[in-house]
Amino acid sequence: MKGIILHGGHGTRLRPLTHTGPKQLLPIANKPMSQYCVESIKNVGIDEIAIIIGGIGADKVKEYYGTGEDFGVKFTYISQDYPKGIAHAIQLCEDFVDNKKFLVFLGDNIIQKNIEQIGKKFEYSDADASILLCEVDNPSRFGIADVKDGQILKIMEKPKEPPTNLAVTGIYFLTPKIFEIIKRVKPSWRNELEITDALQMLLEEGNKITYDIITDYWKDTGTPEDIINANKEILKNMKSSNKGKKEENVSINGNVIIGSGTIIKKNCQIIGPVIIGNNCILEENASIGPNASIGNNTKIAKSHIADSIIMENCEIMTDIKIKNSIISANSKIFQAENEEKILLLGEGTNIKI
Ligand code: G1P
Repeated sequence: MKGIILHGGHGTRLRPLTHTGPKQLLPIANKPMSQYCVESIKNVGIDEIAIIIGGIGADKVKEYYGTGEDFGVKFTYISQDYPKGIAHAIQLCEDFVDNKKFLVFLGDNIIQKNIEQIGKKFEYSDADASILLCEVDNPSRFGIADVKDGQILKIMEKPKEPPTNLAVTGIYFLTPKIFEIIKRVKPSWRNELEITDALQMLLEEGNKITYDIITDYWKDTGTPEDIINANKEILKNMKSSNKGKKEENVSINGNVIIGSGTIIKKNCQIIGPVIIGNNCILEENASIGPNASIGNNTKIAKSHIADSIIMENCEIMTDIKIKNSIISANSKIFQAENEEKILLLGEGTNIKI
């Protein structure tokens, strides 16, 4: 089988974080979210992966993933000039797929489950497609499958009156049969070629679509809240390790990962789950966690940071409580000399002070 990761789009609901790059490169527990897709695809035994790029910062994707050597896979980059939908992006991969079965991952979908068994089952089955479903609270935001007695009756995109709460996740096992179908799919109300419409056509034309239901964690990370939540979930399952140095009277509780070259100064308090990258400095009395990710080379003074992602090369040098926040790379927060706040904010910034 081959793999495909969709890595384009504009990430509008995540602005300003996505002004400088694609949302799929935003870090969750200090790793770009699409890297979790690479790992899931690799788990299925796939080592040839096409990455569909397009939109802002497409070059950053190539720069980060390179040939794939560092990740134990081979990457091929395919450009999508305009976001015309998931089915359109898949269509661009017809030559790459080379008449084999394949697995598609939306680069902003994160799962905890190892799908190796599901992948193997599909590889040796006669199904024409297989999808992963997950129960959700807000079904009209997703593709939905109507299912009865183990059979899929219908697949639809964002229905106003969903017949079930089983969302079609952005993880699709497909066969080359889908290409001929996509050629006949008409653009939807949002002017996209919907994969759900292609799957529904596949079904209507008498083909077999199987499904599995994910009961573990699955998240489509469209909003800042989703990212903070995914960060919390991923951190929960990470194992503690400490490659840094700590001074006296530092208290560390729960799962905490500390990178090499990082210095935790006197009287700091870390409440896991927390990940702190390499070469960070936590000044005296800093308090980190729970559910916090701190990127490489970040410096934090006597602040309290919880349920947040602070990316690399940041400086948080004031006594401040930060919660439910995402702070992009190279940001700085300093103490003002008087009561006035001095702000230099990018377009679309969102702060509460
Ligand atoms: C897309 C698909 C939808 C699927 C969702 C999963 O929605 O169209 O069927 O349920 O991904 O992440 P979008 O994120 O484009 O709204």
